[in-house]
Amino acid sequence: MSEQIKIKAAILTMSDKGSKGEREDLSGPAIKDFIEPYGYEVVDYKIIPDDFDIIRKEIKRIADEDIANVLFTTGGTGFSQRDVTPEATKAVCPREVPGIPEAMRAASMQITDKAMLSRAAAGIRKNTLVINMPGSPKAVVESLEVIIKPLRHGIEILVGEASECAR
Ligand code: MTE
Repeated sequence: MSEQIKIKAAILTMSDKGSKGEREDLSGPAIKDFIEPYGYEVVDYKIIPDDFDIIRKEIKRIADEDIANVLFTTGGTGFSQRDVTPEATKAVCPREVPGIPEAMRAASMQITDKAMLSRAAAGIRKNTLVINMPGSPKAVVESLEVIIKPLRHGIEILVGEASECAR
């Protein structure tokens, strides 16, 4: 079997309180702990406020400076007026990837019907796949469990390490 490439991952936590140091971020570290055993290296991690312009700027920094192959965001996908992560993601990712959040929501509905309240999106900017996830460590783990296996194949195609889908 060919050796797996190490995937560079970035984590962006959206939290007004977390960015001011008023609340500990448990979701960002939960993503890191989950993905590392699957051959991902976390190269960038930030906690930022739920601010449309700041979120867009951070996604652009990670994609345009080619910092990571995949960017996991957590938080800001719900109905609060401050929840703008999906809008900011779609604003800077020209290619939408609807199947990933669809799969997360469909599988999570088996666990909680509140899964339908996440407006998470996913998209591609340059060589970086951006995936929104809800804001709790429980939701993050439940969402990652659904996507982690097919995700590597998608990222390998994106970065040119795989050329086609094995049938
Ligand atoms: N998805 C999973 N797998 N598990 C959860 O517990 N919580 C839901 C939903 N998605 C949840 C989930 C809830 S209660 C909300 S309000 C939305 O995600 C939005 O969360 P966010 O505003 O923290 O992004």
